[in-house]
Amino acid sequence: MSHRCQLSLLLLFCFSSFAQEAPKPFSFPVPERQPGQKSVLGLRVPPIANVRIAFIGVGERGSRALLRFAAFPEKATVKVACDLYQRKLDAVQQQLDKQNYPYKVDYYTGSTDWKVICKRDDLDLVYVATPPGLHVPIAIEAMKNGKHVALEVPAAGTISDCWRLVDTAEQTQRHCMMLENCNYGDYELTIMNMVGKGLFGEPVHAEAGYLHNMEAYRFNFKDEDNWRKLGKPRSTPIIEGNSYPTHGLGPIAHWLSINRGDKMNTINSVTSADFTLRQVIVEKLGPDSEYAKGYQRPDINTSIIRTAKGKTMLLFYSTVLRRPYSRAFLLNGTKGFTEGYPQRFALAPNFEKDQTPEQVKKTLEENRHPIYKKFLEEAKRFGGHGGMDTVMDLRLLYCLNNGLPLDIDVYDSAAWSAISQASLQSARLNGAPVEIPDFTRGAWETVDGVKYYYIDENGQEKTY
Ligand SMILES: NC(=O)c1ccc[n+]([C@@H]2O[C@H](COP(=O)([O-])OP(=O)(O)OC[C@H]3O[C@@H](n4cnc5c(N)ncnc54)[C@H](O)[C@@H]3O)[C@@H](O)[C@H]2O)c1
Repeated sequence: MSHRCQLSLLLLFCFSSFAQEAPKPFSFPVPERQPGQKSVLGLRVPPIANVRIAFIGVGERGSRALLRFAAFPEKATVKVACDLYQRKLDAVQQQLDKQNYPYKVDYYTGSTDWKVICKRDDLDLVYVATPPGLHVPIAIEAMKNGKHVALEVPAAGTISDCWRLVDTAEQTQRHCMMLENCNYGDYELTIMNMVGKGLFGEPVHAEAGYLHNMEAYRFNFKDEDNWRKLGKPRSTPIIEGNSYPTHGLGPIAHWLSINRGDKMNTINSVTSADFTLRQVIVEKLGPDSEYAKGYQRPDINTSIIRTAKGKTMLLFYSTVLRRPYSRAFLLNGTKGFTEGYPQRFALAPNFEKDQTPEQVKKTLEENRHPIYKKFLEEAKRFGGHGGMDTVMDLRLLYCLNNGLPLDIDVYDSAAWSAISQASLQSARLNGAPVEIPDFTRGAWETVDGVKYYYIDENGQEKTY
């Protein structure tokens, strides 16, 4: 065979191997919209002057939220509290008595009493702070009975449950907000404000995570009610997705206008092995412990999301790694950069140079979001993760009191929560791409950016 002929064959071989088609992303089924069902993007309902609320689950999160809402009796009324444990309800009433709460609260302790509560005709909002498995059934029952719902994170654990939330909200035209408090952190809102001002240019890449060592919960076997206890070991390696994505993803999704101008297209996700927890089990329970005989939760899951516009998001999830807490925020735009843990900025024209600690302080102060400024005093007084919980509660009430669209809607709640199953599916496929459903069914293209609504001093509706 001539050299020319050999070269042609080689080129043909190279071309055919490069020309191989990229693997088609795995995709989940998309349900059809039912007749009469319509989008709730930008949903408005008439103003509710005083929001009547039922709290389902008054453990750690629910009891604190209830007491915060009770501090604003002119904006909201706590009508109902429900928990499996009478002692938790008694503790709530004791606190309410201490603060001379003006309204009577009805208490329920049955495990399915939420069904009865959802049917009451004197409620506007059902606030769900039960363990995650109950969020979706309660939310659906509440919306079907005409109530708006606020759900602790994650809103749902599976993609079909995310669709059930979206479809029920669209069928009933009710608000369904996931209570992603991290979107209301001072830093997170400040970055949102800076994105709006164009200080980063076009946001193009963001990173975030949930890096929270959970040994204290995991090894607390005394508390029977502890649903975060160490699981029994498995006989095969555990493949874990990012099962708690929303604290990190929520803020960066709003920075990147996800669901309002762009959308998350695909995810590639990879899980590590289980080095750390095996070692910790031996340290804490000894080598002969039944927990030491098999596979445990992996150290870390890492995912890359690509958006419809070609932007990228990197997500980390670990409740195992031995390290300080972090939500690992990072944003790069075409003009500048910021990082959240610790807080750093580098902005054009000095994009290669870190701001000094004094400059960082000034940048944060000058760009504090008007929403955070508005509720700053209440945030300091009532706290909750440094104030973000209070800002979130007051912002929810502000929007309901004024009949404005909520900041976090059912599409955000579904898309952010859907990452749990989408990342798991990709990790099971060795990191192959998995399609992230478009819960807006195309409406993301009709909106230009994430906006937070407010009424100005002249009574005019505006957006931040
Ligand atoms: N946003 C955040 O920062 C944050 C932080 C921690 C937890 N969470 C989320 O908040 C939710 C609650 O977590 P938590 O730490 O408060 O847990 P928790 O165990 O302290 O509280 C849950 C409560 O729900 C009650 N409950 C269980 N089943 C019930 C039922 N059928 N009817 C009524 N009440 C029922 C339990 O008795 C318990 O008191 C979870 O979804 C969790 O993921 C969010």
